Amino acid sequence: MKKSHQKLIIGNWKMNPTTQSAAKRLFGEIKKGVTRLDNVVVGIAPPSVYLSDLARIRSGSKAVALCAQNAHWEKTGAHTGEISIPMVKDLDVQYVIIGHSERRAKGVTDEAVHKTLQAVLKSGLTAIVCVGERRRDAHGNHFSFVEAQVRAALSGIPKAKLAHVVIAYEPIWAIGTEATAIPADVHEMKLFIQKVLSRLYDRSYAYKVRILYGGSVHAKNAESLLVEGTVKGFLIGGASLKPQEFIEIVKTAKKHGA
Ligand code: PGA
Repeated sequence: MKKSHQKLIIGNWKMNPTTQSAAKRLFGEIKKGVTRLDNVVVGIAPPSVYLSDLARIRSGSKAVALCAQNAHWEKTGAHTGEISIPMVKDLDVQYVIIGHSERRAKGVTDEAVHKTLQAVLKSGLTAIVCVGERRRDAHGNHFSFVEAQVRAALSGIPKAKLAHVVIAYEPIWAIGTEATAIPADVHEMKLFIQKVLSRLYDRSYAYKVRILYGGSVHAKNAESLLVEGTVKGFLIGGASLKPQEFIEIVKTAKKHGA
């Protein structure tokens, strides 16, 4: 199946769980629950200290891809506390999350997002670029805010690379809150992001970029967000730590996959 038709469900574990054994158990349960799906790609972004163990558990199975929560654009060097793209690639990682709002809040700039995107694409991995407004207002400033983030990330990225770019629309006010965006608003923002992309590239290339939603996705709202929100999948925080709920969401995506 063409990559652009597959749904993409990524679990972002953030700084959880606290032990290696709990991480392995969680990963094992998810892996068991999501075998044999061809219209959905499932990915898990664990804390980087667990990547190596999870890569071993994963080996031989294509059911769950590994993602990095972050990576530095330089290959090596004096960057204390950072991990590089070749390091995560060596551990079987296929996706790298870039510019999550929790990292932007700690000082990751649009420029850093752009440099990391360039480096991820050069390495042949797929990038998940996070964008999203802090708040909504009646003047629609959230649209210009998201447009600026998309433009800053993608400026100068060649169209041939767009099949390896995923954009996750994650309104900050909806992350970890229960205040999920309503599907109609998600749909509107998805169309808007596609419009921005088609101003930067030919329409046929712009539409290769998959657009996800993230922000308090759970088993109960997944279906309406996929169907009415018309997104290609989700970036899921809290619910990805509950294996049964996460598997439920994956099954919903399978039902509505291409
Ligand atoms: P949440 O997090 O699902 O817990 O709201 C989403 C994210 O931060 O990617």
